[in-house]
Amino acid sequence: MKYSDYSAYFAPVVTKETDIVVQSAKGIWITDVDGNKYMDFVQGIAVNALGHCFETVVRAIQEQAANIIHASLNIVSYPATMEFAKRLSESTPGSLNVSFFSNGGAEAVDGALKLAKIATGRPGIIAFRGSFHGRTIGATSITGSKARYRKHLEPLMPSVYFSGYPYYFHRDIDLSEAEYAERRLAELREIISYTIDPSDVAAIIVEPVQGEGGYIVPHPEFLSGLREICDKNGILLIFDEIQSGFGRTGKMWASQHFGIIPDIMTAGKAIAGGLPMSAIISSKEIMDKWERGTHGTTFGGNPVCAAAGLAVLDALQGEVLENCRIQGDYLSERLKELKDKHPVVGDVRGLGLMKAIEFVEPGTRTPNPAAMSKVILAARKKGLLLLSCGIFQNTIRLAPPLNITRDELDQALETIDSCIGFAV
Ligand SMILES: Cc1ncc(COP(=O)(O)O)c(C=O)c1O
Repeated sequence: MKYSDYSAYFAPVVTKETDIVVQSAKGIWITDVDGNKYMDFVQGIAVNALGHCFETVVRAIQEQAANIIHASLNIVSYPATMEFAKRLSESTPGSLNVSFFSNGGAEAVDGALKLAKIATGRPGIIAFRGSFHGRTIGATSITGSKARYRKHLEPLMPSVYFSGYPYYFHRDIDLSEAEYAERRLAELREIISYTIDPSDVAAIIVEPVQGEGGYIVPHPEFLSGLREICDKNGILLIFDEIQSGFGRTGKMWASQHFGIIPDIMTAGKAIAGGLPMSAIISSKEIMDKWERGTHGTTFGGNPVCAAAGLAVLDALQGEVLENCRIQGDYLSERLKELKDKHPVVGDVRGLGLMKAIEFVEPGTRTPNPAAMSKVILAARKKGLLLLSCGIFQNTIRLAPPLNITRDELDQALETIDSCIGFAV
């Protein structure tokens, strides 16, 4: 069975990274219809925290589907969804205790923007260059990682302002990381001094670790500076944790690495074990300002997704997070060795098992997207699936399952090492 025989039935707008047609998948492995096996370091774009078809997730889905699949949370309540909302609130920092469930990341981002605007009565949103928040019109309006995503869609949602994210590797001036973070904050302060009055800004929305933009970890002072600016001006701070959340960075939420608590958080991707689910999570005080009936969804809070989410949460609260930290530290060390060995590797970075390898022209910081493409292609030929990210299209992201073993990690690293060696 070949995709090319069926491609006429699919909108060509979808980027198709490979022509693999999957027969089955288990853990870190995908098997295609011809019996070829691939080690999957993409996991559905940082979704499967426990790898493919994790036993307890599959069982939870099967058992829940046999009981009730859908009657709509607008009409009834489900035990699995009630329990999931409670367990989510126990996993989040501060007073982020109340959830609104939706179905995908962009939808949650759109809802979070609506919530911030309604809760503050203000129109403005500040977002960051390099950000990715999704493909709906609202999420596209605050996405700044590729002009292509916004092409022909202008005018988008009004009153959106972009500021710089502290992408330290591509700093335009030689400063320390903390100084560079401060420089970016200064740019933001200029926006609220010169371009939009802070009393008109509803929210600042930021990824605590930038995802599609290149797996960029900001200096902690950047996020604490944002918190300070928000507090001073009555602006809500939204953390988009759709990619960084739910254990990916070695803590339940990336915000916990920085000790900064947002007012609103969006979650998605990993939260339902591979089923489509997302959430807007905030305090009771803020959620109470969202007038009943002004937002809603038919499918949000689906019990099959919630049951899967509970199974993932159970595993994360066991040994999986600890494994993510241990393997993540090991991965950092091995990536540093790769960087020392191959001059085409300019930077390696990330938290937990959200790690990136950035390719450059040797001896410079000039992006080298061709090298990255060659490595991804060569790795695929050797049975390792990798995915790019980054505003310069020169970065490989590594998002393996959080329960990956050392042997699996070593095997992938060996492949990457040899592919950089012979492909570039
Ligand atoms: C940080 C972040 N926000 C939002 C989204 C959009 O999520 P979805 O593709 O589920 O709409 C993504 C997807 O990559 C993301 O990484």
